[in-house]
This record gives sequence, structure tokens and C-alpha cells, in this order.
Amino acid sequence: MGMRAIVRGVGHYLPEKVVENAEFEKTLDTSDEWIRSRSGIERRCLAAEGQTTSDLAIRAGRAALENAGLTADDIDAIVMATSTADLTFPAAATMVQAGLGMTRGFAFDVQAVCAGFIFALANANALISTGQARRVMVIGAETFSRLMDWEDRSTCVLFGDGAGALILEAGEGAGTAADRGILSVDLNSDGRHKDILYVDGGVSTGRTGHLRMAGKEVFRHAVEKLSDTAHAALEKAGLTGEDVDWLVPHQANLRIIKATAQRLQLPMERVIVTVQDHGNTSAASIPLALSVGSAEGKIQPGDVVVTEAIGGGLAWGSVVLRW
Ligand code: UT7
Repeated sequence: MGMRAIVRGVGHYLPEKVVENAEFEKTLDTSDEWIRSRSGIERRCLAAEGQTTSDLAIRAGRAALENAGLTADDIDAIVMATSTADLTFPAAATMVQAGLGMTRGFAFDVQAVCAGFIFALANANALISTGQARRVMVIGAETFSRLMDWEDRSTCVLFGDGAGALILEAGEGAGTAADRGILSVDLNSDGRHKDILYVDGGVSTGRTGHLRMAGKEVFRHAVEKLSDTAHAALEKAGLTGEDVDWLVPHQANLRIIKATAQRLQLPMERVIVTVQDHGNTSAASIPLALSVGSAEGKIQPGDVVVTEAIGGGLAWGSVVLRW
């Protein structure tokens, strides 16, 4: 017995501007072939000038409300995962709250970079299971294009902008893995690895800065830690890889996604892959993939879904839920 955080609706928004890999060949020593074969990325969407992270999040939030058949007044809390809030403060979530016309409840940001949506889901789950909120909008939204050094070919070809939103609602559960809703959470971080993926700017430097990444090292950690955290979350839920209907991984690199699926003994037919169209959208990648997978009719009510992500910190984790 107890309260479960059950999916009530999902939605997303992508900026209109689509940039194909070949575009980068004009300004950088790179190729569509290199980007495609090393990362699986074919194109990405980039926010228009003046279009902020909260702008994208508001559109994703509206789409999720429509999908759920709810209005902003029905939402008790917004938990927003982002590392690219419009301003240093206030929290982008409060801008989204105002933008959606939500005048009660509360809203705050969660910052765990590419793993942010997992940490935001964990927060929302805690709010619902302890009775502090009945309906929570969980958003992942980013404009990583604003953090790119457009002369650094090793990073600028990998990232994109976008937003996804999930609405979770309290519902009674039997306390077993047969319940709908969030079944288990596994969170981790290890600040000793802070220098392999970071932004070289911020409040202490007086400028926004650019993303810097030791790609190969992050890759090595990702494959190992993502399968470990997914296994840990499944074990906490009392499930095994065989129970999984869909793996919805953070979309950073197709090679990482394939290696993780293999370690979980899941065929690629059971993995939602959007990295080819979105690039790495950091905290937005999982809710974008959930929204696309649901809209395509792949993820169905009752399905067991495993989400996992890793990013700067390092911070990583996994959430298992029954859709
Ligand atoms: O979301 C947060 C988590 N982030 C990730 O999970 C990203 C993890 N890392 C990766 O996805 C991969 O490491 C990358 C896609 C970033 C790079 O792939 P890689 O197979 O690890 O390549 P590499 O960094 O070892 O680079 C191989 C070569 C280098 O040349 P040399 O030193 O071998 O001569 C790079 O200079 O490829 C070169 N290179 C490029 N060449 C053409 C790097 N970027 C490019 C580029 N175009 N855009």
C-alpha cells in the first residue's frame, strides 16, 4: 500500500530550426560521416535568437497538459531539470509557472546536468509519495547551444536544444512491481570526476562560459555506470531485464546506448532512440524520448520502462516505472 507517482500525460517541444550534420562541414574540419559513425547524430534543433529555455519548457508543458486533459490549475508543483536556466536566478521553473498561468503551488529547478531528469523524477516521486503534492509536472529543458564553443568540433556537433514534460499524478498502489507509476529510483554522483565534463564559466568568473568535455573518458564511465545503475534500479523494483518493455536512455551517443542495451541483454527493438534527430539535449533527452516513444504508440500503459542517464559531476541514475 502507498501512493505511487503515475504518468498522466507527456509532451515535448523542439525549436523549428533544424541543423543537419553537413552544415558543420562549411565551418569546421569535420564530416557528416564522422559525426554519424562516432555518435549516431544526424541532425539537431537549435533555439532561435532570443528563444530561452523557459520558452521551450512552457511549450512542452502545454503539450503535456493537453495530453493529460488537465489545465495549469490542476498542477501542484513543477520540478524542472535544467543546466541552462534563462538567468542565474530565479529558477526557470518559476518562469514556466507564470508562463503556464499557474498561480498556486510551487516550482523549482534541479541541476544534475544530463542526468537532471532522473533527479527531477526522484524529487517528484518523493513529493507525491509523501503527500506534499498530488500532481507534479516534471520538465527537462535545455538550450545547450548557448554553451557551445562553435570552434570546438569535438563538442559543438554533439548537442541540441529542446524540452519534454511529464505529468505525474498520485494513485494508490499495492506496493508491488505490478503497480503503475514509479517503482524504483537509483541516484549517484562522484564529484572527483568534475573536470571531465564542465562549463568553464559561471557566477565565479563573470561570464557564461563554454562546455568542455573529455569525450573518451566520459564515454568509458557512461557505459559502465549506466548499466550498473539500471541494474540497481531494476533490482530495487524486484524486476529483471526480462521484465523490461522499453529502455529509454539518455540520448548522448548511439554507441553508448547500444553498449548499455547489450549489458542489460535488451535487443535494440526495445530501446527508444531519438539521438539521430535531437542530438544530445542534456536533461531534455529522456522526456523527449518518452514523448516521441509514446506518440509513436510504442510505449503503452502497463509497460515497464527503464530510464537512465549520466552527465557532468559526474552524476548518474536510473528510474524504473510502469507506464
Ligand atoms: O551527455 C553527457 C554525457 N556525454 C557523453 O556521454 C559523451 C561521451 N563521449 C562520446 O560520445 C564520444 O567520446 C565522442 C562522440 C565525444 C567522441 O568519440 P570518440 O570515438 O571517443 O572520439 P575521440 O574523442 O577519441 O576522437 C577521435 C578523433 C580525434 O582525432 P585524433 O586525436 O585521433 O587524431 C579527434 O580529434 O576524432 C577527432 N575528432 C573529430 N573529427 C572530425 C573529434 N571531433 C571531431 C569531429 N569531426 N567533429
